Amino acid sequence: MTAQPFYITTPIYYINARPHIGHAYTTIVADAIARSRRLLGDDVLFLTGTDEHGQKVERAAQKAGIEVTAFADEVSSAFRQMCVDLGISNDDFIRTTEPRHHRAAQEIWRRVMAAGDIYKGHYEGWYCTVDEVFVPETQLVDGACPTCGGKVERLQEESYYFRLSRYQDRLLEFYRQLPDFLQPDFRFNEIRTFVEGGLQDLSVSRTSFTWGIPVPDDPRHVMYVWFDALTNYLTELGFGSDDPGASDRMSRYWPGVTHLMAKEITRQHAVYWPAFLMAAGLTPPRRIVAHGFWLMGGAKMSKSVGNVARYQDYVGVFGLDAVRYFLLREMPLGQDANFADEAILTRFNADLANDLGNVISRTVTMLHRYRDGVVPEVAPGTRTALDTALVEAAATTIASVRASYDTFQMSVALQQTWELIGLLNKYIVEREPWKLAKSPASAAVLDLTLYHAADTLRVIAALIEPVMPQSTVRIRAMLGTPAESWTGLAPASLQAGTRLGPVEPLFPRIERTTEELRAMSDTSTPAPVPTTEPVAPVHVPVTAEAPAAPGASVTAGPELISYDDFMKVDLRVARVLRAEQVPKSKKLVKLAVDDGSGERTIVAGIAEAYQPEQLVGRTVVIVANLKPAKLMGIESNGMILAGSAEGALPTLITVDGVPPGARVR
Ligand code: MSP
Repeated sequence: MTAQPFYITTPIYYINARPHIGHAYTTIVADAIARSRRLLGDDVLFLTGTDEHGQKVERAAQKAGIEVTAFADEVSSAFRQMCVDLGISNDDFIRTTEPRHHRAAQEIWRRVMAAGDIYKGHYEGWYCTVDEVFVPETQLVDGACPTCGGKVERLQEESYYFRLSRYQDRLLEFYRQLPDFLQPDFRFNEIRTFVEGGLQDLSVSRTSFTWGIPVPDDPRHVMYVWFDALTNYLTELGFGSDDPGASDRMSRYWPGVTHLMAKEITRQHAVYWPAFLMAAGLTPPRRIVAHGFWLMGGAKMSKSVGNVARYQDYVGVFGLDAVRYFLLREMPLGQDANFADEAILTRFNADLANDLGNVISRTVTMLHRYRDGVVPEVAPGTRTALDTALVEAAATTIASVRASYDTFQMSVALQQTWELIGLLNKYIVEREPWKLAKSPASAAVLDLTLYHAADTLRVIAALIEPVMPQSTVRIRAMLGTPAESWTGLAPASLQAGTRLGPVEPLFPRIERTTEELRAMSDTSTPAPVPTTEPVAPVHVPVTAEAPAAPGASVTAGPELISYDDFMKVDLRVARVLRAEQVPKSKKLVKLAVDDGSGERTIVAGIAEAYQPEQLVGRTVVIVANLKPAKLMGIESNGMILAGSAEGALPTLITVDGVPPGARVR
């Protein structure tokens, strides 16, 4: 079967500002989609780049006191670097200042002109330089731009116009024929309503500045930056060049393109762009996917507001895959989401360290401990309903994750994958391999359990690959399994006899990030946000001494914590394996406990209440994520919970019957 072409683009980013989390997000979403398509065997072309012309950029360069081309080179390279930093698998990076793009933009202009859809006129009206859009008088909000709230300027100049008004019917017909042209649906409805309301001709050239692509045969004019920028998607395919491969590339990748962006620029992509293309005799793009905004402090994260978070800070603290995971998991397609340090930390420790990291280290550790690091053979016909249910759940998850990717719902795909991780955790808890390991009669069930646990992890590693490619490589190194695509991905196909690699911590819990997070907050603390709505506390540094949020209630009584705060304490069930009195101490006992993933030492002040031998075999509750501390020269890794009345000896909290490693909540 020949590979299906799949062309995906991000917006090309303005270079008046350095890249932030908002740009990082779109680029990562596009990357995950591109990677998923490659895993499905498609011939993927993935384009991103920078939009470098226009008045906004010209002014930013002037403000920086740098010649505009040098300014463009510098900021564009920051976006190129972002792609490297974020592990983006783009096939090309386009700049609108490149000669190939000038040729393409001038070619499309000539075609539209030849079709009679560009004419010369005079523009008098308002312009928003932040958004690079003309704003009709009727749309001004208190005299400001309705989109960004910024100042608009009065323009009065000769201008070429595009006959957008001619395209209303053709656009509406095009929308009718492609009911999934724009996703999500509610955005498509907005666009339809806008077009149904009537279209006015669009000014497409400027004469009051020169930083742009000259209009063919009339170089006093430069093209309106959007006319220039949208064409980049064709430049990539060699449009307007005399390269002999260009027409093949055009027919291979056009019009089957997916343009990804945030919601604020859907009009340009879903109305202007198809109309320009129709006028030039080309087919409009196949699909537009519009996501929501990352908000900070209640407003869209943006350079002009000043509330931006640097992606570098978060990658530095949490690691690249964790940031990619957070961004894709937290924002359902089409909706806005809040960017907050606390949310990342919670997801990191709950989803990555506890759920995923834990099940991997447990499984791999047990395979090493009980089966010398080799995937066991499963005797035919030994699977029970429990194993079959896990295999079936894995098969269903593969299908549903693929379906979610088909509709660009990565957050749903991740949720589905995490449900499988949860099931796998339950399967292990139910089977209690640590008990099975004690009796030779249970060897076959233990084989079965370890086989299916490792096999399900193999499936999970494949499913998270588009979002967390580095983690997939690391999980496979631990499992000893090769890279695999999504085309033949199926559960219960792990090769028995596979030799596992060493266990390595994948997502060690982050406990000591107070300073790091505070440092991050220092670099990204937002400027006051111009909004009339009450603004929630903006950045919540994760610190014990965090000041009360404005408006926090000051009633007497114990300070209340949130559920998320409680979940930061990793309470686990553990079984005491050995116990001995610490020499020269009246109170301390040194305990070796099984916490479900291995053995750890805990020193507890319970010697006056219990003899060491009374402790062995008890199932206790430990705080598993306490910073290690040295007591009488012994490193203690955690704390055992006990209750004690004032002045009385402590009584251990025991949870007999619950397996080691189970979470207490
Ligand atoms: N240059 C135009 C696009 C031309 S495409 C032919 C432009 N550039 S931009 O630098 O302003 O980038 C806008 C895009 O950056 C958004 O559509 C989105 O993809 C991304 N984002 C910037 N800030 C964002 C958020 N706060 N939240 C989500 N996405 C964000 O518009």
